[in-house]
Amino acid sequence: MNKLIETINLSYCYKAGTKEEVKALEDVNIAVWQGEIIAITGQNGSGKSTLARHFNGLLTPTTGSVLAGGMSTNLKENIREIRKIVGMVFQNPDNQLVSSIVEEDIAFGPENLGLPQTEIIERVEWALNTLKIEEHRREPLHNLSEGQKQQVAIAGVLAMKPDCIVLDEPTAHLDPRGRRDVLESIVRLNREEGITIVLLTHFMNEVIYCDRMIVMDQGSVKMQGTPHQIFCQSEHQKEQLHKMGLDYPVASQLAAGLKLEGFDIATDIIHTKELINSLCQLK
Ligand SMILES: Nc1ncnc2c1ncn2[C@@H]1O[C@H](COP(=O)(O)OP(=O)(O)O)[C@@H](O)[C@H]1O
Ligand SMILES: [Mg+2]
Repeated sequence: MNKLIETINLSYCYKAGTKEEVKALEDVNIAVWQGEIIAITGQNGSGKSTLARHFNGLLTPTTGSVLAGGMSTNLKENIREIRKIVGMVFQNPDNQLVSSIVEEDIAFGPENLGLPQTEIIERVEWALNTLKIEEHRREPLHNLSEGQKQQVAIAGVLAMKPDCIVLDEPTAHLDPRGRRDVLESIVRLNREEGITIVLLTHFMNEVIYCDRMIVMDQGSVKMQGTPHQIFCQSEHQKEQLHKMGLDYPVASQLAAGLKLEGFDIATDIIHTKELINSLCQLK
């Protein structure tokens, strides 16, 4: 497998060299592998957004380096190419949407790439279909729910055909339905379109759909592994996660509660399905 993004001894300070200097990242060494869906989690202020903004050169390291598609973000001349590889979706779609009509907004990115008109039309169709928002194509954005607007923002990035899409807490402002629909779209982009996904989130019920997860705290990486590895560990590790302000997936919490009540439940549960299987095996 290919490393699509790699950070090497990455440290970052806001307002470096001034009295208000904030050390936001310290010696971060991680990789994002081509084709995976990876969650970056951690409480507010842990450095998730600062890290993600390094992936396409929105920020560049104070020390260390970041490679995207093998190119260093430290070199200005690489940034244009890097942004074709790594697209970015933000928490609030209103900060990302530029036109008033859905399909015009989605076409904006490909138009800026200078693509021929036929290719632009094809890409907009593909993005509308993939995000399942064809029926809204002619609608003004202000008619849409926040969740639908976020789908349009994702479609706009998708239409640029990046290898990787980084989403910074894309569901934070959404209602439960919007959150579910956006999560489904993100997983579909990965599983069906092969797009590498980096999902920043503090919802553990989103994290469990990822192949791997990274836990950040105070600007450094504290844990990484599969969701099963992170959530099904020793009491010590559980305590550590708790200290870092993280929840457990709902199914894990239920399983732990049942175990306390004396039920013989499996100890490696993070998905509802796994909980049901374990319950069905009870005598
Ligand atoms: N523009 C900024 N100027 C100064 N400090 C910032 C700025 N943005 C973030 N920070 C600080 O950097 C640290 C990491 O923040 P951030 O990356 O936004 O974390 P997260 O996304 O996990 O909430 C925090 O201490 C935050 O206050
Ligand atoms: Mg953030």
